[in-house]
Amino acid sequence: MAQTSWAQGEPLVLVELPTPEPRRDELRVRVQAIGVNPVDWKMRTRGPLRLAARLIGPPPPVVFGVDFAGVVEAVGADVTGIGVGDRVVGGTDFSRKQRGSYADTVVVRADQVALLPADFDIVVAGALPVAGVTAFMCVSEVGRLQAGQRALVLGASGGVGQLAVQLARARGGSVVGVCSTGNVALVRSLGAEVVIDYTQGDPLAQARAHGPFQVVIDCVGGYGGAACRALLGRGGRHVMIASETVGETLHVLVPPFSSKSVLGRPTTARLQAVVAAVASGAVTVRIAETMPLAQAERALELSRGGRMTGKLVLLT
Ligand SMILES: NC(=O)c1ccc[n+]([C@@H]2O[C@H](COP(=O)([O-])OP(=O)(O)OC[C@H]3O[C@@H](n4cnc5c(N)ncnc54)[C@H](OP(=O)(O)O)[C@@H]3O)[C@@H](O)[C@H]2O)c1
Repeated sequence: MAQTSWAQGEPLVLVELPTPEPRRDELRVRVQAIGVNPVDWKMRTRGPLRLAARLIGPPPPVVFGVDFAGVVEAVGADVTGIGVGDRVVGGTDFSRKQRGSYADTVVVRADQVALLPADFDIVVAGALPVAGVTAFMCVSEVGRLQAGQRALVLGASGGVGQLAVQLARARGGSVVGVCSTGNVALVRSLGAEVVIDYTQGDPLAQARAHGPFQVVIDCVGGYGGAACRALLGRGGRHVMIASETVGETLHVLVPPFSSKSVLGRPTTARLQAVVAAVASGAVTVRIAETMPLAQAERALELSRGGRMTGKLVLLT
């Protein structure tokens, strides 16, 4: 059987690759929905990610994409609790030599997927892995937000930001969101008590009146570690997901070590937490547009524009 995948070329090309058989701890998924994330086009165009994918990833051609949702079509001998025909959501991992998810099938380890409830929308599932898991880690695992505490979300209207706002609210926190003028109403509708329009002056200076914060989640980058840490209360954390420079990343080394860098890696437990939050109605996922996998190039361009106010999802 052949695996049909979108791989890098000039332009992006559709290639037929041998379909791998899952090893003992792996499963193969027939992909139905694929969420588009900035990491997809960054792997194509930027230095560190592209280099890493080529140095430690599987042999070329590079297949883009992390997010997927679909139906299990084969399982390895050691996989328990998941069988052929089950619907799952998950993320590929090039550091495990896995090809990306812009494909009709993916092969991943069982610890990279979660089962989907019967009535869970497959498009929403496809949009969840990277954005949902990253938001969950920022708010809960790293941000340690508790009921009654405050969160500041920079980039609250983006794919990760929207979910971070809602997950923080679901934990009983209160949220200050930062976004552009056109998205103020959207971020408020997600549950942010205060929304700061960053086009109307320094948002961190405006946020000071609403702090101190248990967690400042920077989904944008370039806001400055010292300025973010200055808004934290005792034991608070500044969480970075979009650091683009060595200088920004080095903030994790600055005492009192309250700046943290997060890499949103989909694992079964994290995916289950995010799926449960959506299934309970505590979190809604805004889908900006669905399009066929054949339009992957257009999806990457839209994502790269940085002005999406919902997730793009490719359908096979
Ligand atoms: N470390 C990880 O594991 C991880 C995981 C996921 C994403 N990321 C990174 O995190 C970033 C966001 O990802 P995403 O999926 O949320 O992207 P996205 O959906 O494209 O959202 C980007 C958002 O940034 C907002 N924005 C732009 N400039 C801003 C500013 N100065 N202040 C506040 N908001 C601003 C835009 O909102 P407005 O239109 O309202 O300005 C837009 O909604 C990307 O760099 C991505 O690569 C990292």
